[in-house]
Amino acid sequence: MPQTMRVIVFASQKGGSGKTTLAGHIGVQAELAGAGPVALIDTDPQGSLAKWWNCRESPTPAFLHSAFTNLVHDLDEARAQGFKLIIVDTPPAVTKAISEVVSFADLVVLPTRPSPHDLRAVGPTIDICDARKKPMIFALNAATPRARITMEAAVALSQHGTVAPVTIYNRTDFAASMIDGRTVMEIEPEGKSAEEVRGLWEYLQQRLMRLDAMENETGEVVQAAPLFRNMNSLGREVPVFGRRAV
Ligand SMILES: Nc1ncnc2c1ncn2[C@@H]1O[C@H](COP(=O)(O)OP(=O)(O)OP(=O)(O)O)[C@@H](O)[C@H]1O
Ligand SMILES: [Mg+2]
Repeated sequence: MPQTMRVIVFASQKGGSGKTTLAGHIGVQAELAGAGPVALIDTDPQGSLAKWWNCRESPTPAFLHSAFTNLVHDLDEARAQGFKLIIVDTPPAVTKAISEVVSFADLVVLPTRPSPHDLRAVGPTIDICDARKKPMIFALNAATPRARITMEAAVALSQHGTVAPVTIYNRTDFAASMIDGRTVMEIEPEGKSAEEVRGLWEYLQQRLMRLDAMENETGEVVQAAPLFRNMNSLGREVPVFGRRAV
């Protein structure tokens, strides 16, 4: 039987890479795009996503109070309540607990800033996804427009997995919109930031739809093959970040 509820986990060891920002934005965008009902889960003790949601006026997406230890039960409960998509935010760490959260994911999104520090920090998160055999997408976040390092980062990351074809740029409205519990789509729906979030969601949705299609064919839960595995076609040598190439 194909699953009717999907789980996207935002994870990265690097603090400040954009996990919470993108989790909140993708949760709202998925709901706006009709992929709901969507529920958010915050497994970070900092509780940033929960605090943001508490400031929201809109009741959607829903928020599920859960903890690492209760996740199995809470996800079952969410499925029973008819939620179609669960977005999970995680703390900036690489721990056994995060590995367990990833084990519930249909898709793991690794927000990564195009900076050497962020790129070098991706290795352990990739290893968790590999160990759990989970499809994983890098989402370049907070990029500077027209900066060469953005392309270089995409090329470097593509050696380790799939890079979302939509880059989220560094704009103050991402931070400003979240002050009162909203998102860029709710502040300026026609703005560039909103367009990027829509693009990222559409890509993630495509990936989830591929999983659905494959499950419908086989009747089994399957792991998606990446859509864009090799973007390193510039013919240039790029540094390998995060872990050693074999
Ligand atoms: N695209 C962006 N443009 C501008 N600012 C951004 C963008 N993405 C995130 N930020 C800002 O960067 C900071 C860190 O983002 P966020 O809290 O989402 O990262 P995080 O990965 O959840 O951090 P932590 O690891 O501490 O949980 C926040 O102040 C946020 O507003
Ligand atoms: Mg966070």
